[in-house]
Amino acid sequence: MADNILDRYEGVFTDEQKVDADRKIKVGIIGCGWIAEAHLKSYLKCPDVEIVAGADLIPGKAEKFFKDNGIENVRCYLNHKEIIDNEELDAVSVCTYNATHAECTIYALEHGVNVLLEKPMCVTLEEAVEIRKAEKKSGKVLSIGFQPRFDENMKMVKRIVQSGELGEIYYIQTGGGRRRGIPTPYGTSFIEKDTAGIGAMGDIGCYSLDMVLNAIGYPKPLTVTGYTSDFFGKNPKYMPKKEYADVFGVDDFAAGFIRLEGGIILDFRISWAMHLDTPGDTIILGKDAGLRIPSTDCWNGSIGGPLKIYHDVAGERVETVLPMAKNKGDNFDKKIRSFVDAVKYNLPAPVPSHEIIYNQAIIDGIVKSAKLGREIEIEIPEI
Ligand SMILES: NC(=O)c1ccc[n+]([C@@H]2O[C@H](COP(=O)([O-])OP(=O)(O)OC[C@H]3O[C@@H](n4cnc5c(N)ncnc54)[C@H](O)[C@@H]3O)[C@@H](O)[C@H]2O)c1
Repeated sequence: MADNILDRYEGVFTDEQKVDADRKIKVGIIGCGWIAEAHLKSYLKCPDVEIVAGADLIPGKAEKFFKDNGIENVRCYLNHKEIIDNEELDAVSVCTYNATHAECTIYALEHGVNVLLEKPMCVTLEEAVEIRKAEKKSGKVLSIGFQPRFDENMKMVKRIVQSGELGEIYYIQTGGGRRRGIPTPYGTSFIEKDTAGIGAMGDIGCYSLDMVLNAIGYPKPLTVTGYTSDFFGKNPKYMPKKEYADVFGVDDFAAGFIRLEGGIILDFRISWAMHLDTPGDTIILGKDAGLRIPSTDCWNGSIGGPLKIYHDVAGERVETVLPMAKNKGDNFDKKIRSFVDAVKYNLPAPVPSHEIIYNQAIIDGIVKSAKLGREIEIEIPEI
């Protein structure tokens, strides 16, 4: 069902879909940092959205954010509670750092407000469970901000798997990352434990996980053996400022070996920094064919090169190369438009939390297993 919804957003939505601008929804933005600007710009392309309010913990930041973006008459607040309590909002974008995703989302849902929540869903599995409970109780839309889902090449990955061309899938290797790329352009909110909670895994790892798990229909993760390290983040020689190394409190590299329902093995590794260019391509092995997805950053919504299928034809081993698909329109715009439509027309969430909770469970499992130094079972309570 969610897939059908994504397929509505293949083109530039404003050209191809008639937007009922007479029926506007009132939207607020919680957290006015870096990614909030992308949300704002995409909302401004929706003639049926009124941005009425914003909130940020840092005094004056929300006001400056709207002023810098040329938006007037927006009421500003100091936290998620104030904005929800004082406004009659249809929806909010939760654009805060990871550590406050859960409290902002739960508060909004409890007050009957639909939520577009930035990725990663949150920090821990326990938080994800509480978010799911609040969502279920509220009956409101909760969509998680994975814009690569709208990318035509990502959709092709899923189509190939779902077509049955690869046969039964038994092994997947995914992940990626950077030789040097610990994100500190706007300070330390990505690297401190109190704000980010998780590092490379939450920033970029969740995208690689989503790419393959979405392709195979998000089977439940059963066990995980995880590893995390912070050799670069904690070393001042690799950080732009010595103080950044002092406050670094998350993973800059992580790996996991995960058993999924259906007997599928998922081998995952992600890096913000390492002595290597890439930890490799994504591969999906099936009993009839294998798929190679050239190493990709994922977050910007595309793959690193043409997809290649390895299969046998009449007893010969052949490779089929799929030309890269071109996107029409911007994936971030589609993420926002699909959420607005879900709110207005009571459609299912474009990127549903009942899938992304498994993504979060894997990340959480890696953290817990790494701490314990052994494999753990993933237990997700009934919601
Ligand atoms: N989808 C994407 O492409 C993409 C890209 C970058 C970041 N992100 C995600 O977006 C989130 C935010 O990233 P960012 O780079 O904008 O971070 P940021 O640190 O620049 O901004 C976060 C802001 O949230 C505010 N905040 C925190 N808790 C709050 C609360 N309870 N009420 C009001 N304001 C609060 C902070 O004061 C800060 O200004 C992260 O979870 C990140 O993973 C997604």
